Amino acid sequence: MKRIAVLTGGGDAPGLNAVIRAVVKTAVNDFGCDVFGVRDGYDGFLAQGGVFPLDLAAVRGILPRGGTILGTANRGNPFARKVMRGGKEVVLDISGDLVAAIKKLKLDAVVVIGGDGTLRVSMELCERGVPVVGVPKTIDNDVGGTEITFGFDTALMIATEALDRLHTTAESHHRVMVLELMGRDAGFIALHSGVSGGADVILIPEIPFKFEAVIQKVRQRVERGSHFSLIAVSEGAKPAGGRQVFSRGGDAVYVARLGGIGQDVAQYVDSQGFESRVTVLGHIQRGGSPTAFDRWLATRYGAAAVRTAAAGGFGRMVALRNAQVIDIPLSEALAVPKRVDVDGDAVRTARGIGISFGDE
Ligand code: F6P
Repeated sequence: MKRIAVLTGGGDAPGLNAVIRAVVKTAVNDFGCDVFGVRDGYDGFLAQGGVFPLDLAAVRGILPRGGTILGTANRGNPFARKVMRGGKEVVLDISGDLVAAIKKLKLDAVVVIGGDGTLRVSMELCERGVPVVGVPKTIDNDVGGTEITFGFDTALMIATEALDRLHTTAESHHRVMVLELMGRDAGFIALHSGVSGGADVILIPEIPFKFEAVIQKVRQRVERGSHFSLIAVSEGAKPAGGRQVFSRGGDAVYVARLGGIGQDVAQYVDSQGFESRVTVLGHIQRGGSPTAFDRWLATRYGAAAVRTAAAGGFGRMVALRNAQVIDIPLSEALAVPKRVDVDGDAVRTARGIGISFGDE
């Protein structure tokens, strides 16, 4: 292995720079490779100056830094790309140009750090001859085949701190504070931070809720002398028989943007006579410095991705299982998206300590 490229795709997550640093250090120190950075996801392969040398000096000091020094893109799907043709917007498959551009660089491996969208594109490119190794990234923790993605722990810490802060003001004003959290169709951020931050109600996409059940919990707390409540709502949560709430629709290129369910819950709580406020934590969950755990995991993933590439493990993804970093086929990771196990110990524990999921 002589030439290796690294890119970051999809939404950013704390720990991306730690992976990039580990890839460069391992590739240079252990394998004597030349490493190249690719700007803004796969787009960099088609852009002027989009592929550039990354040496040890280039990754100095980036371990604790949020974001990605490479830039990223979350409309980087080369199989469906919006372009202007004759004054009109059309969606084209530009994957042929992309594969040709990558092959021209004579790379021995491309380490792709991304979530399910980027990893799916990578699997298809691998089938067309691009030597890809994947690293699972996302604050949502929804990539299959791995116990955890890097970025999740940092998001969790931020969400838990937000709940702690809302707790004191909720108590002072005798209010119901609703916190809307990210996670798309997976409720991991809301569930884990809700338990860690002492939420009274947790609403997640995997468990459709009833508004009446939410208010019943709030009322029960008041009757027991607690005149405030904390509700952690996943952006993808939906009422039983109802739909998820979106702030913007999707199309062939952009996925629809979730958002607004927190406001709906707060409005309902208010309408039932309990003063309520909503906080949408948004991209605060994705920004800033990674936790020690995310730096540790990201570093192990980056180094393992280089070792996997050196062993010719293309079309594979590094993953954490039983505290060991292993590698698995991308197809296995992407076969079933990871969701909260509604019968698992985490949900059972939450129910056991009196948290309501709004379903009973
Ligand atoms: O997948 C990560 C994530 O932060 C989701 O939790 C959220 O729904 C989405 O990305 C937001 O995407 P964007 O940054 O494009 O608004």
